Amino acid sequence: MTRYLLFFLTIIIYIPKISSIDSKSPIIFIPGSFCSLLEVRINTTLQPSCPISLHNRWIILWLNLRFFEPEFLTCFHNIFKFIYNSSLNSFENPSGVETRIIYNSINDSFLNDGINIHSLPYDFRRGTNKTLLSFNNNLKQLIELTYIKNMNKSIYLISHSTGGSMILFFLSQQSQLWKDQYIHGWISLSGNIAGEIDNIQNLIQGSLSPILTRDIFQTWDFFAWRLPEPMIYGSERIIIKTPTKNYTSYDMLNFLRDLNANELSLIYPQASSILASLPAPNVNTYCFYGVNISTPIGYISKSDQFISNQLETIYGWGDGEQDDTTNMSCQLWKKTMDIKYKLILKGFDRVNHLALVGNDYVIEEIDQIIFS
Ligand SMILES: *[C@@H]1O[C@H](CO)[C@@H](O)[C@H](O)[C@H]1NC(C)=O
Ligand SMILES: *[C@@H]1O[C@H](CO)[C@@H](O)[C@H](O)[C@H]1NC(C)=O
Ligand SMILES: *[C@@H]1O[C@H](CO)[C@@H](O)[C@H](O)[C@H]1NC(C)=O
Ligand SMILES: *[C@@H]1O[C@H](CO)[C@@H](O)[C@H](O)[C@H]1NC(C)=O
Ligand SMILES: *[C@@H]1O[C@H](CO)[C@@H](O)[C@H](O)[C@H]1NC(C)=O
Ligand SMILES: *[C@@H]1O[C@H](CO)[C@@H](O)[C@H](O)[C@H]1NC(C)=O
Ligand SMILES: *[C@@H]1O[C@H](CO)[C@@H](O)[C@H](O)[C@H]1NC(C)=O
Ligand SMILES: *[C@@H]1O[C@H](CO)[C@@H](O)[C@H](O)[C@H]1NC(C)=O
Repeated sequence: MTRYLLFFLTIIIYIPKISSIDSKSPIIFIPGSFCSLLEVRINTTLQPSCPISLHNRWIILWLNLRFFEPEFLTCFHNIFKFIYNSSLNSFENPSGVETRIIYNSINDSFLNDGINIHSLPYDFRRGTNKTLLSFNNNLKQLIELTYIKNMNKSIYLISHSTGGSMILFFLSQQSQLWKDQYIHGWISLSGNIAGEIDNIQNLIQGSLSPILTRDIFQTWDFFAWRLPEPMIYGSERIIIKTPTKNYTSYDMLNFLRDLNANELSLIYPQASSILASLPAPNVNTYCFYGVNISTPIGYISKSDQFISNQLETIYGWGDGEQDDTTNMSCQLWKKTMDIKYKLILKGFDRVNHLALVGNDYVIEEIDQIIFS
């Protein structure tokens, strides 16, 4: 989990590297999970675990290291999770908690021209139709605006990790005519397009203990959205083994129930259907992955109840975080995408999930795509 914190810094270093070049095509960057800034406003009367000093003013929720200090940690746990509303069948902010995304944070601090390069943040805890469609509206607006500001030059989308899933859903919702006009190409770095095996571990153990607990994660619909996709992971491969059960990607609903993540299991059917067909992007597409690094490809739980310290990881190959299989989503488009669009897959030897952003070979490759 510290790697996410490190990664946040990487992003900040990476963007100016590209921006220093006077690009022919404008670029819009969609970051990975945990790489957007969120703000919160708390009514401490309704959230008494939060100190009164935080009452009713906008403060940074993520990434705010102060919240990790012992006296703020309980407050943080209570406000960073969602509460399930059964009449809406959705997760909502707890009462007395409002959150918002900080737009332009990267733009304002690190990019001077604001014309050629943009980055669009999002609430990485979410993964429902409603939240993704609202991201789509923002992205569409930003693309159209950037296009006009750059004398009608079409855009390169660059994404990292979950940003790739965001873009694929976005593209799936646009008409071909619109895409042909506005999108020059999409470069996906370490895209978790077919979901991630290691999200299972996050749901069982949380992350960066004691900061992101499993109780928090089990209220993020993101995790219902981005579990391994059946279309790619299939019904043969055992992803989790317990003393009495084997779970494949087709058994994720049962896994959530057996984990006792009941509310998340109620969200799973709709969230997991959003990208289930892995639609072809139908734009020039470049899928870049790190390869040849030991990576979780499955788990063995010694307890049927998924007690968090009784989890053993099975290792195979990937980028250290995502296993190789997730690249099969791009392979699939060789068959399903209109051949008039480029489709290029490339593995980068021993470049890990986070290092792919900012890696010199990758940047060189991106330069070649954008300037050729
Ligand atoms: C906070 O919540 C209390 C109790 O519901 C309410 O009376 C008060 O008006 C709220 N304060 C603000 C600033 O919204
Ligand atoms: C659930 O949402 C409905 C509709 O917004 C609202 O009226 C109700 O108070 C919510 N329930 C809870 C428990 O917050
Ligand atoms: C980025 O910053 C520039 C200059 O500060 C500003 O004009 C522009 O509106 C910002 N970008 C977006 C997406 O608003
Ligand atoms: C850009 O496209 C719009 C319509 O899509 C058109 O009205 C405008 O004249 C074009 N601008 C340039 C600089 O080509
Ligand atoms: C789980 O799969 C293994 C093969 O990996 C098999 O030997 C075992 O019998 C299966 N267990 C159950 C409960 O189906
Ligand atoms: C989510 O939205 C898409 C596009 O509007 C729609 O095709 C799909 O049926 C929706 N899924 C659910 C589960 O509502
Ligand atoms: C894609 O994954 C397959 C195995 O699923 C692996 O053999 C191949 O090297 C991977 N390709 C890239 C470009 O990562
Ligand atoms: C991965 O490692 C194998 C064995 O060392 C090597 O043959 C292969 O070229 C590597 N893959 C990439 C994409 O570099």
